[in-house]
Amino acid sequence: MMRRRSWCLMAGTSAVLGLVGCKADSKGPAPLLVEVWKTPSCGCCKAWVEHLQAHGMRVLAYDVPDTAPFRAQLGMPLALASCHSARVAGYALEGHVPAADILALLARRPDALGLSVPNMPIGSPGMEQGQQRDPYDVLLVQRDGTHRVFSSYRS
Ligand code: CU
Ligand code: CU
Repeated sequence: MMRRRSWCLMAGTSAVLGLVGCKADSKGPAPLLVEVWKTPSCGCCKAWVEHLQAHGMRVLAYDVPDTAPFRAQLGMPLALASCHSARVAGYALEGHVPAADILALLARRPDALGLSVPNMPIGSPGMEQGQQRDPYDVLLVQRDGTHRVFSSYRS
C-alpha cells in the first residue's frame, strides 16, 4: 500500500516528462483523461462530455468564452473547427468525435495531430436529434494541417 502510494507520487512528479501510468489500488489502469475547452452555454458540448464519461473516460471540462485560442494552441486548423476543442494523451480532438474513434486512435497511436469532426453533424455523439443523421467523417489531422478520413459514419 505504502510502496504503491509512493510510486504514484513519483509518477505524478515525473508527469512533466510524459504520461506515466498510475494504477489505482486493484482497480486496473487509471481512466483515460480528456481535457475539454468549451463555451458554458453550449449544450451539445456538455452532451459530448457525457458521451465520453459514459464510455469510462475521465473528463476535465473548462468553460471558456471562446474556444478559438485553445484550438489554435492545439494546432487544429480553423477549417476543421467545431464547437469544442480537447486533448487526450498528447492528441488534439475537435468537435463531436465518437469515443470509439478516440479509443481506436490511442490503440493505433499514429504520428498525427489528432482527430476532428468539423462543424456539428446531426447524429454525432452529443448532437442526437431523434432519428435524424447527417453523414459525416472523422478526420485524422496531421501536424501540417492536412487530413484524411479516419472513419466514416454514413449509414
Ligand atoms: Cu457541438
Ligand atoms: Cu461542443
